[in-house]
Amino acid sequence: MNNFTYHVYTDVRFGKDQINTLPELMAPLGKKVLLVYGGGSIKRNGIYDKIQKLLSGCEIYELSGIEPNPKIESVRAGAALCKEHGIEAVLAVGGGSVIDASKVIAAGANYDGDAWDLVVDNKKIGKVLPIVAILTLAATGSEMNKNAVISNMTTNEKLGTSSHYFKPAAAICDPTYLFTLPANQTAAGTADIMSHVFEQYFQKTETAYLTDRFAESILKTCIKYCPVALKQPDNYEARANLMWASTQALNSLISAGKGGGWTCHPIEHELSAFYDITHGVGLAIVTPRWMRYILSDATVEKFAEYARNVWDCKEEDNWKAANYGIDATEEFFRDCGIPMKLSEVGIDESKFVAMAEDAVKFGGLQYAYVALDKQDVVEILKMSL
Ligand code: NZQ
Ligand code: ZN
Repeated sequence: MNNFTYHVYTDVRFGKDQINTLPELMAPLGKKVLLVYGGGSIKRNGIYDKIQKLLSGCEIYELSGIEPNPKIESVRAGAALCKEHGIEAVLAVGGGSVIDASKVIAAGANYDGDAWDLVVDNKKIGKVLPIVAILTLAATGSEMNKNAVISNMTTNEKLGTSSHYFKPAAAICDPTYLFTLPANQTAAGTADIMSHVFEQYFQKTETAYLTDRFAESILKTCIKYCPVALKQPDNYEARANLMWASTQALNSLISAGKGGGWTCHPIEHELSAFYDITHGVGLAIVTPRWMRYILSDATVEKFAEYARNVWDCKEEDNWKAANYGIDATEEFFRDCGIPMKLSEVGIDESKFVAMAEDAVKFGGLQYAYVALDKQDVVEILKMSL
């Protein structure tokens, strides 16, 4: 087991009606609040009105229209609003896109240059305004972690940046807010949770036994409850378990004692950077192909362990078990209704080389579980067509 830092910062308020704690959470942070949200789901499901009532004593400014795969232009607009009005705290209400944009806005509020600098070079992140997140989509873990992913479509770049100061001061996670999520976002969000687990589970460290058992239980939770949430969108038990799974999948818990680079995320970020597709869909498409591509004598034991512990596979032969687990993963995503080919989401071969180059350049694929070069990425993308 490697040495690690486990820095828990966020005050998580989990469960039905936890939004009523919002005034208490905001009070120490300031009265001038920038409310950041997306395309309007929070107006349709009543969260927006509730916030206005609860924060009637605050001076609220708004930035709406944060896009899925949040764009740098929105971040720039938010940072400008913070500077103009002397904002003291940022309230992010939405999924990962809104929370990620809010993090860079909160840093941009105290930065004199272009906010894109903070994405390209996290050493430029200085003081960050406090952030409170109200989560409405179980997927990214952004509500409790230090990451933000921002897109610049003019340069076809979708890059991650991170800072401990990005961790929200508080996160309100009410599973009933997931009841209005459409099926495609429920499924894509679950694929994202599972991919976060795969990125950390399939690593070279073999001695982080406890960490890997945590990881497997998050996967089993997704496999058990995503189909339930798809059939019964207002099933509290299913939504609550998926919501907690998403937070735990990317808050350092399941990387504790492990290490190394990620694989499917750097590849997916290129798909989004060039084609603006839904993050979880890209991951679901690439993941089983990546698994097949890297399956070898060196990795077969870990994939067999995955199949036995997560999919209850009884095969004694490691190769048979490993293939069983990979097939089950692909079938699961398909059964959740996710389009499972790049061609189904409008992506052809024409930009594979450019995307592979950038995935290697920005993604640290040389440190991955199985190191990949440009040609490897092209092959995985071809398998995904
Ligand atoms: O914009 P609104 O109207 O709110 O609609 C959103 C959006 O269209 C909708 N939605 C969210 N909650 C809803 C809802 N619709 C109905 N009811 C609700 N309760 O869902 C759509 C997608 O939202 P988005 O925030 O884009 O989804 P997600 O949470 O999957 O975030 C994806 C972004 O996060 C990044 C991804 O790359 C992508 O840009 N990631 C962030 C990470 C992090 N911060 O650690 C890690 C991840 O690996 C990921 O890269
Ligand atoms: Zn992700």
